[in-house]
Amino acid sequence: MEKPWSGRFSEGTDEFVEEFTESVSYDRELALEDIEQNIAHVKTLLKAGVLKEEEAKELIKGLKEIKKDIEEGNFEWKRELEDVHMNIEAELTKRIGELGGKLHTGRSRNDQVTTDEKLFLKRETQEIVELLKSLRRVLVSLAQRSVDVILPAYTHLQRAQPIRLAHYFLAYREGFLKDTERFLDCYRRIDELTLGSGAVAGVDFPLDRFYTAQLLGFSRVARNSLYATSDRDFIAEFLFACAVTGMRLSRLAEDLIIWSSEEFSYVELPDKLCTGSSIMPQKKNPDVLELIRGKTGRLYGNLISLLTVLKGLPTAYNRDLQEDKEPLFDSVKTLKGSLVGMRKVLEGLQVRADRMLSNAGNFVLITDVANYLASKGVPFRKAHHIAGSIVSYLLEKGKRLEEMSLEEFKNFSDLFEEDIFEILTPEKVADRRKTYGGTSKEEVLRIIEVAKREEGMV
Ligand code: ARG
Repeated sequence: MEKPWSGRFSEGTDEFVEEFTESVSYDRELALEDIEQNIAHVKTLLKAGVLKEEEAKELIKGLKEIKKDIEEGNFEWKRELEDVHMNIEAELTKRIGELGGKLHTGRSRNDQVTTDEKLFLKRETQEIVELLKSLRRVLVSLAQRSVDVILPAYTHLQRAQPIRLAHYFLAYREGFLKDTERFLDCYRRIDELTLGSGAVAGVDFPLDRFYTAQLLGFSRVARNSLYATSDRDFIAEFLFACAVTGMRLSRLAEDLIIWSSEEFSYVELPDKLCTGSSIMPQKKNPDVLELIRGKTGRLYGNLISLLTVLKGLPTAYNRDLQEDKEPLFDSVKTLKGSLVGMRKVLEGLQVRADRMLSNAGNFVLITDVANYLASKGVPFRKAHHIAGSIVSYLLEKGKRLEEMSLEEFKNFSDLFEEDIFEILTPEKVADRRKTYGGTSKEEVLRIIEVAKREEGMV
């Protein structure tokens, strides 16, 4: 089959090269964006006086018919035509004749390709932002239902201090909010028209790029043709945003996997989201969470893959840039799947409040014994040391903190009084953390109200 660029060549392309260099097997994902761009380009050429009214009409009609065939799965993609752009153009020429050859006037695939990618990414980013929003809403509802559930917070995976479970869910809501902001910020840089940059230097037809931008819904027009045709920053940024969100999903997944183990039994995962073992009948495996955790590897890999492609490229378009697409498509699909998976898990999550509370006492309260002494004037380091000796004493005796008598306390410091017993419950200890952003009931309830307003839930 004759290539659109075959004029300069004296022999056909090697079979292997065709297979090695093609991208249509995956960049056809951009087909509808490519049609949309083609139509806007035709209109811009018309406005510039490059095309006549009837020509533009016929080109657009042909493009719309191709669009319909693609949507209905009736389009035959040809590997010999390399990529999505040349496939569509060649088909147009086949259908409407030589006029089809005017479509590519004043354009290069170098400015065409990221125009498609940006159209695609604007839509996908909006979808991801919506998925993040519904995930955050589920977290806010969970927080609302778990204000009175107390569990130990862990640092170094060792029991640290009691918190309200609502505080935990709100922590993840906060993180996903940051992720959302990151996607929205990245969106601003995606939202910039490349088309009209030509192959590298701009275009020698009087194209009104601001008109094209308006037609395609871009807020801005790229200001430098050399930068614009070189630029994959917006994809790298998007992949980074995916990687960070994946990291967060993975850590949340990890907590829930641990919490659902028999040893913890803090949560019960919905049966319909777990699978069994083919050999061990007792098992209920948290596969969805494990795969969310596992797929984070791809999200990181895709980012590193693109950054590596970009490093060391001479300025402007190089064919290496074709390698941007598979990581991009993979991250979009992977992240969307993981966001849906996590939402489903959280929607069906059962919390075992009794189990959580049973681990939130004893030494989890010991920081407050030190703080008690500190509030009576003992330097905190010394108070910490005294509280540490109490832990070591209790460990030796095989007793819990709640079982200490006042006399025993007094053996460690005269400053202990009857009121020490008033503070030593998980709930009271949690509620003493009244600072802005802390885990006290007051503060948690306040944040829930703020979150509900921000999420449009009231
Ligand atoms: N398929 C190519 C890509 O994805 C399109 C641009 C090709 N440009 C070129 N001059 N060969 O990057």
